[in-house]
Order: sequence, then structure tokens, then C-alpha cells
Amino acid sequence: MKRQLAVLMVVIVSLISVQCGGTPPATEAPTPTEALATEAPATEAPTATEVPATEAPTATEVPPTEEPATLDGQSLLQERCTGCHDLGRVERSEKTEEEWKATVERMVGKGAQLDEAEQELLIKYLAETYPKAAEVPPTEAPATLDGQSLLQDRCTQCHGLGGVERAKKTEEEWKATVEHMVGKGAQLDEAEQELLIKYLAETYPQ
Ligand code: HEC
Ligand code: HEC
Repeated sequence: MKRQLAVLMVVIVSLISVQCGGTPPATEAPTPTEALATEAPATEAPTATEVPATEAPTATEVPPTEEPATLDGQSLLQERCTGCHDLGRVERSEKTEEEWKATVERMVGKGAQLDEAEQELLIKYLAETYPKAAEVPPTEAPATLDGQSLLQDRCTQCHGLGGVERAKKTEEEWKATVEHMVGKGAQLDEAEQELLIKYLAETYPQ
């Protein structure tokens, strides 16, 4: 401890002398960081030796928490699914969660070693990692149907949007306004009306 204190003192004194020494900033910069670097081990040393003593009683509790850690989808796939074939067919596959479930259950039927919990985990992992990409086009259609563009495209033929922007209405009231405007000639189908009403109620609420 005395030696460490002495080292600390030297470090502190050298830090102080560097700061008061008036050396140019360019050469000053490296010294404090070097000083800190050598300081760190000195202060860390005592805690490092103290840790094992407090950890010793809990050390026996560590193994149980390690078990779930091995249960990750990727390791399961690599450990349990490579006995009969490589992972090429898995990696080329695109399946929904339902379809992956069916595949995994079929592979378990063939002899893959996975308990219930492991199957569930692996199915989730597979469905997230190799998902079905076919459902993208349908989601593109509603993307063009956004409330703000509808408002700008379909509500500006007869008047500006000042009245809309100043208005504060409940969803019910916006519904009445939109239906009223459709009655006057605004061009919006059912789905567009619904979307616009939602948008208006969120953007200009009461
Ligand atoms: C005991 C041997 C065995 C193990 C272990 C095994 N498979 Fe298979 N697997 C096969 C056989 C045999 C085929 C080809 C026949 C078939 O498709 O049923 C196959 C085919 C496949 C296919 C292509 C057919 C499809 O349904 O798309 C995929 C994907 C697949 N396995 C995934 C897996 C996964 C994931 C695991 C780990 C849970 C796994 N396999 C573990 C034997 C095995
Ligand atoms: C075909 C012409 C036309 C179109 C398109 C139109 N409006 Fe109007 N709007 C009017 C007229 C005319 C008035 C004034 C008379 C009235 O309030 O009935 C009005 C008034 C309003 C008012 C003020 C009255 C109130 O109820 O608060 C709002 C808000 C409004 N419109 C919103 C809209 C919205 C939102 C759209 C798009 C869905 C739209 N308008 C599209 C003709 C139109």
C-alpha cells in the first residue's frame, strides 16, 4: 500500500508540475494522459484482489444462468441442424413462421434433437432471419394513401387549407366535414376518406 501511495503521489505531483510548468500545450497533452494510464493500474490493483473474495460464495450460482445463454437460435441451428445436411437449404429458404414451424417439426420427426423450448426459439429465429419476402407488394399500395397527400391533392380544388388548419375537431366532426365535402364533389373513395379522417383527427384534434 505504501508503494502504491508513493506512486500516486508521484503521479499527482507530476500532474501538478506539468500543469504549472507552462510548457506549450502541444507537449503538455501527452503527459497527463500517460500519467493517468500509469495511475490506473495502481488504483485498480487493490480492488482486483478484493473481487475474488466477494465473488467466491456466488460462484456456485453461475452455472444455472449459463444454461439459457446457450439457447440462442443461431447456435441451435448450427449445432442441431447440420447433422444430416448443410445449412444451404435453410439459407435459401423464405418461409413464414408457420412454415418454419412445419419444417422444424418435420426435421424433429427425422431425428433432429430439440426439446419444445428449443424448437420454439429456433422457429422464431428462422422466421426472423429467413422470412417470406412475398408480402411486400400489397403493403406498397397503402403507402401512397397517406393522409397528408390526400389532403393536399383532394381538398384544394375549391378552397385553400387555411380553414382546415385553423379547425379543431373530434374524429366524429372531421368525419362529418369530409362527408360533407365529398357531397360537394371531393374525390375520395371509402378507404381514402377513412385515412384522411384519421389524419385530420390526429393533426387537428379538438
Ligand atoms: C436427422 C437428419 C436431419 C436433421 C438433424 C435435420 N434435417 Fe433438415 N432435412 C433432412 C432431410 C432427409 C431432408 C430432405 C427431405 C425433406 O425435405 O423432408 C431435409 C430437408 C430440409 C430442408 C429443405 C426442405 C424444406 O422443408 O424446406 C430444410 C429447410 C431443412 N431440412 C431444415 C432443417 C433444420 C432447420 C434443421 C434443424 C432443426 C434440420 N433440417 C435438421 C434431414 C435432417
Ligand atoms: C368541390 C369543392 C370542394 C372540395 C373538393 C372540398 N371542399 Fe371544403 N368546402 C367547400 C365549400 C363550398 C365550403 C364552404 C361551404 C360549407 O362549409 O359547406 C367548404 C368548407 C370547408 C371547411 C369549413 C367548414 C367546416 O365544416 O369546417 C372545411 C374545414 C373544409 N371545407 C374542408 C375540406 C376538406 C378536408 C376537403 C377534402 C376532403 C375539402 N374541404 C374539399 C368546397 C369543397
